[in-house]
Amino acid sequence: MSGKFISIEGVEGAGKSTQVSFIQQHLLEQGKTVIVTREPGGTELSEQIRGLLLTPAQPAMAVETELLLMFAARAEHIKQVIEPALERGDWVLCDRFVDATFAYQGGGRGVSQQRIKMLADWTLQGLMPELTLLFDLPVEIGLKRVIQRNEAIDRFEQEKVTFFEKIRESYLHSAIAEPDRIKVVDASLSIDNIQQQLIKLLSPLL
Ligand code: TMP
Repeated sequence: MSGKFISIEGVEGAGKSTQVSFIQQHLLEQGKTVIVTREPGGTELSEQIRGLLLTPAQPAMAVETELLLMFAARAEHIKQVIEPALERGDWVLCDRFVDATFAYQGGGRGVSQQRIKMLADWTLQGLMPELTLLFDLPVEIGLKRVIQRNEAIDRFEQEKVTFFEKIRESYLHSAIAEPDRIKVVDASLSIDNIQQQLIKLLSPLL
């Protein structure tokens, strides 16, 4: 595999979409072929699974179902999109990947890290991003941005502030555990400032 794999993570409302477009543009300017994709999603089947995961439903989905659907979507995405792209030598820019499962299903829902790790080992077979950009922001600010977007609120966004506090804490914990791979970007700074940071963080890969 000669392509590079970058994942983008963060709490709700951290401005990932804007930054994904910026990174894509920056990499294109450096002459790279870039695939932009997302999780859950990225293939026809995985997007259908995303629909199941994000649509508010009653009775509440079991935590186990949520966890397994995340990995089912991911397995398909890896086989159909990520691995073929990396084998072609393309760069893969993925809006969320396995760190989101450790943060949301682990930190947020309380699934044990060992259980997630077991599924991750089986599904990923060693595949991990070279670089993960974690857009960090106080939860209250992120949620305010989500409300201001004025779009339908999905099943995760319906959760309480304490759920997102646990997710943020879990993400930051992962960043401390893996400082070489996971780089924290302060998403409360100005867009210009964030983009200068991104250029610096991407340069060792180029
Ligand atoms: P998005 O809003 O960033 O597109 O992500 C969709 C939602 O799915 C978001 O609330 C986070 C959640 N999610 C998980 O709970 N676990 C995962 O493994 C992934 C990839 C996303």
